[in-house]
Amino acid sequence: MKIIQLTDPHLVPKGTLLRGIDPEARLRACLAEIEVHHFDAAALVISGDVTDLADRASYELFRDVVAEFALPPLHITVGNHDRRSVFAAVFPEHLASDGYAHRRFDLGDHVGLLLDTLTSGTHSGAFDRLRLEWLRAQLADGHHPVLIFMHHAPVRVGLKRLDHIALQGEDEFWHVIAPFKSRIRHMFFGHMHRNVAGSWRGIPFTVAAGLTHQVMLDFQTDIVRHIEVEPYFSVILVNGRDVVVHPHAIRDARIIDIIPDTTRPASAP
Ligand SMILES: [Fe+2]
Ligand SMILES: [Fe+2]
Repeated sequence: MKIIQLTDPHLVPKGTLLRGIDPEARLRACLAEIEVHHFDAAALVISGDVTDLADRASYELFRDVVAEFALPPLHITVGNHDRRSVFAAVFPEHLASDGYAHRRFDLGDHVGLLLDTLTSGTHSGAFDRLRLEWLRAQLADGHHPVLIFMHHAPVRVGLKRLDHIALQGEDEFWHVIAPFKSRIRHMFFGHMHRNVAGSWRGIPFTVAAGLTHQVMLDFQTDIVRHIEVEPYFSVILVNGRDVVVHPHAIRDARIIDIIPDTTRPASAP
C-alpha cells in the first residue's frame, strides 16, 4: 500500500509570492507528479498549513488547483496558519460533524487517523478534551494497525524555536494513545518545515519538510532562519511487516542511468 503525505503548502492569493517563493507553482509541480506516478496511492494526506494567512482566496485557490488533477482520495487537516471557520467554508466535506478537521479513513487492513491540532491564537498545537476523547474512541474501535497523521508533533527536536511551538499537552496525548501503542505503526507530522525522523516514546515518526521555505539546522539561536530549497512530499510504503518513507524532492535533476554490464561478473562494482 502506498500513501502520499504533502504538508505545509502555505498558499497565498493567486499572483502573490511568499518570501519570494511561489506556493501555487510548487503545489502544481507536486500534484502533477503525484497524478502521473502515484495515482495508485490509497490516500493523499495534506497535513495542515494549507494557507499562509487563512484568507478565503487562498483556500479557494487550493481547492481549484487540486480539482485540476486526478488524485488519490484526499484527506486534509489544518495547521497553525489555518483558521478552521474559513477552511470549513471552502472545504465543508473535510470537517467532522463535531466541528474539527479530524477523520478516520479506511486503508484496507490499516486505519488512517488524521488529527486536528490547531489551537486558535497560538502557533503551538494542542488537543482539548473533546478531541482526545474522539481519538480514544477511534483507537478503541477495531483491531487494525493504525497510521496517525497530524500537523504538530509532540516530540522535541532540539531546534529551540520549533520546540517552542510544538504540540502542548504531550503527556495527556500520550496517556490516550499509550494503551494502543502496539497497534500504532507510524506517526506522520508536518509543521517543522524540515525532514526529520526518529521515534517518540518508542513509536516511529517522520516529519515531512513540505512545499515552501525550510527551517535551517541551527541549534543555537532562538530565531527561525529559513532557506529556500525544493518542495518535498513523502511517499509512504506500508505492508504487513514494514513501513518505508521516501522524502521526495521536486527538482530538475540530471538523471544518471547506470546500465548493467552483463559481460562482467555480478559481484563487480
Ligand atoms: Fe507551516
Ligand atoms: Fe505549522
